[in-house]
Amino acid sequence: MRKILVLDTTLRDGEQVPGAKLNLYEKLEIAAQLKNLNVDIIEAGFPASSAGDFKAVEEIAKKIGDKVMITALARAVKSDIDAVYHSVKHAQKPLIHIVLGTSDVHVEKKLRKTREQILEQGVEAVKYAKTLCPNVQYSTEDASRSDFDYLWETIEAVVKAGATMINIPDTVGYAVPEEFGELVRRINERLKNLNPDVLLSVHCHNDTGLATANTLAAIKNGADKVECTINGIGERAGNAALEEVVMGLFLRKDYYQATTGIVTTEIKKTSRLVSALMGLDVQVNKAITGDNAFAHSSGIHQDGLLKSRDAYEVIHPEDVGVEDMEIILTARSGRHAVKNALAQVGFTNYTPEEFEQIFARFLELADAKKEVYNHDLYHIVQSTVRRDHFNGSAVDKLYELADMQVIINNNFPSASVKIKKGDEILASSNMGDGAVDALYTAIREATGVHLRLLEYKLNSVSRGKEALGRVSIKVKNGSGKVYTSKAVDTDILKASALAFVNAVNMAVVDDIVSKQDQVV
Ligand code: KIV
Ligand code: ZN
Repeated sequence: MRKILVLDTTLRDGEQVPGAKLNLYEKLEIAAQLKNLNVDIIEAGFPASSAGDFKAVEEIAKKIGDKVMITALARAVKSDIDAVYHSVKHAQKPLIHIVLGTSDVHVEKKLRKTREQILEQGVEAVKYAKTLCPNVQYSTEDASRSDFDYLWETIEAVVKAGATMINIPDTVGYAVPEEFGELVRRINERLKNLNPDVLLSVHCHNDTGLATANTLAAIKNGADKVECTINGIGERAGNAALEEVVMGLFLRKDYYQATTGIVTTEIKKTSRLVSALMGLDVQVNKAITGDNAFAHSSGIHQDGLLKSRDAYEVIHPEDVGVEDMEIILTARSGRHAVKNALAQVGFTNYTPEEFEQIFARFLELADAKKEVYNHDLYHIVQSTVRRDHFNGSAVDKLYELADMQVIINNNFPSASVKIKKGDEILASSNMGDGAVDALYTAIREATGVHLRLLEYKLNSVSRGKEALGRVSIKVKNGSGKVYTSKAVDTDILKASALAFVNAVNMAVVDDIVSKQDQVV
């Protein structure tokens, strides 16, 4: 089985996303996580672009570059190559990455030179870089729109000048998988004849959504190395997403006969970190790292999964560091999923007529609320069948937001909450770093349930004055279990509070269930 090297360019191509600029500490944090993910090469930046970028690459090379290879980008000019060398040289395995166009549009229109002049500039750049560092990668920018003979002439010349890796970029996302695979196959055949030690790499952009497909086609046709970013972020429509390429190989090793050294269980954590630090939300249906990538909401699928997970699950969530698959109870869920959820909260002893009553009430609630949580099932059972099915008072253990008040000011944002638990009203007032923090501290104190906030997201789900804000949060309890909950309201602070109370109820349900073997 071939091992494919993975270069991560989240900190260079990924950071080119408008508004995603990171500070030094954030870059170091991401680089450290990329090392945990076990990428082979980190492209840490473009040091000639600013003193800040130089410093960031230098620090990453010093602090993270003990095992993982560190590179940074240079145009084919001495000053850029010097900047890369002086920033990456602290790493155990530094690599200089030089880029220069090979398509006519780049050579003639962008660079305004002749093919011969550009070829000579590239060769000189590689010769110079080789005087500084043994590892040099040469990227033939816009390779997929280049004339093949000139592209090969360039590759041959820069390999003879000392390049140790040749990177074939589909710079503008022009390639299609069959054609790109064929291009890689032709280049690889000649390259391995010329010098079998030189690695062939690809770098694909996602302008028509084909970056992952093109990257995988290149692997199938002999590429030794791939360049990717976390969550597929990058210039314009982004780059090939690391998680998609890696899990594509993981799932279909039989077909690709190739694998990577990526620690796949670190994927979700890396995705969350990049998304949080760069402020770039991951599309919910994004392959592998989207929130819904392992969530099932259709009744037909839920029924199939409950009979056999492999009916609708080809990658296990645990393989990418996601806690578990989610069966989301919505109006589309069928009887099988609802029975399964009832069993999860310990309620199995009902007559067929009682179940039909529960199911009808469930559908009413699902139409109104969109998503139904396990703790809602207690209320459904209580209001339809009989409360004593739950060994007394499970419903009395659940919390309900009765009232809240938030004061926002520059110094001491504070919040007061009243929470209903059975017949009791629990009250607490607290301060925080901001309104939401104050609110969550007050809810924690009122309920006595301590959940640590891992992720907070606020989205608008409609427009205008009456716009609904949807808050989704991820929290963790003391034993490390993660809960995801949501709430919608026109008042975003109320939606924030409701989402937290939902999460508290999830933790309470887990506690009740773990304490009762079987509730009759
Ligand atoms: O897209 C591109 O061509 C690049 C090169 C620098 C590899 O990012
Ligand atoms: Zn790129």
